[in-house]
Amino acid sequence: MKLLAGNSNRPLAEAIGQYLHVPFTRALVRRFADMEVFVEIEENVRGEDMFVIQSTSFPANDHLMELLIIIDALRRSSAKRITAVIPYFGYARQDRKPGPRTPISAKLVANLITQAGASRVLTVDLHAGQIQGFFDIPTDNLYGQPEMVRDIRDYLDNEHLMVVSPDVGGVVRARGLAKRLGADLAIVDKRRERAGESEVMNIIGDVSGRICLLVDDIVDSGGTICNAADALLEKGAKAVYAYATHGVLSGGAVARIRDSQLKSLVITDSIAATEDIRKCSNIRRISIANLLGEAIYRIANEKSVSSLFD
Ligand code: R5P
Repeated sequence: MKLLAGNSNRPLAEAIGQYLHVPFTRALVRRFADMEVFVEIEENVRGEDMFVIQSTSFPANDHLMELLIIIDALRRSSAKRITAVIPYFGYARQDRKPGPRTPISAKLVANLITQAGASRVLTVDLHAGQIQGFFDIPTDNLYGQPEMVRDIRDYLDNEHLMVVSPDVGGVVRARGLAKRLGADLAIVDKRRERAGESEVMNIIGDVSGRICLLVDDIVDSGGTICNAADALLEKGAKAVYAYATHGVLSGGAVARIRDSQLKSLVITDSIAATEDIRKCSNIRRISIANLLGEAIYRIANEKSVSSLFD
């Protein structure tokens, strides 16, 4: 196998390389003066099993173009198989038409990756599992929860934990975590009774006196988890912690989380951390490098990937 990384998340790519003890294929991934992406693979890859590591995180379009152009360069260099390793698959939230005359961009992006020449995809905690079906090539969707469970066992007293889904859409994910921890489950149900009225947050489940653990796939503006934390504390929760796989953290999200009532937010390194994130006292990061490294090893050696989660 050979590894190649785009520019979106070098630290994660290097950690994966260390896990696998595989050096990176020499390649030039740079910009022309007008910001067009240019890629040159600097060593022979004919007949190789290639793994391209690139999150399509901010700036999403630039990183997506890098991924597509790297795949195209590998295909034209006669690589035998090309796996797009996409720790964070951007555009995933645009997986349906929210209204008439709107796109399904997640499907478009899946088509672009396939058409560029990817033979398979390896990703982590897709926003919705069904997005796997947008790809007509084999797609492995890894779960970040086992890494979260390890962290929760190290940092929190397991006895009074209540796992909370911050919205109705995340119930399956939260139920999975509650099951792994042997904890109870509560749900934040956001409702706007009438147009123009502000959103009401109802909590399904008794959270009073409990240590609550919000779980989500993405934290973007931070609004969802910070508002959920406020609602839980209002209902008598003792403390609120949050876990999310992908720390998109755009705009003023880091400041919002820093100033929130959350004891901590734990994210993975699927997206490279900014200086602000690294400095934020209540944001902690756990690594999915070993998980991805092991999955790459298993794909390259035709071994089961699903058994990683047995
Ligand atoms: C929504 O369906 C997702 O699972 C996340 O809850 C959402 O993307 C979080 O966004 P924000 O942090 O901007 O509220």
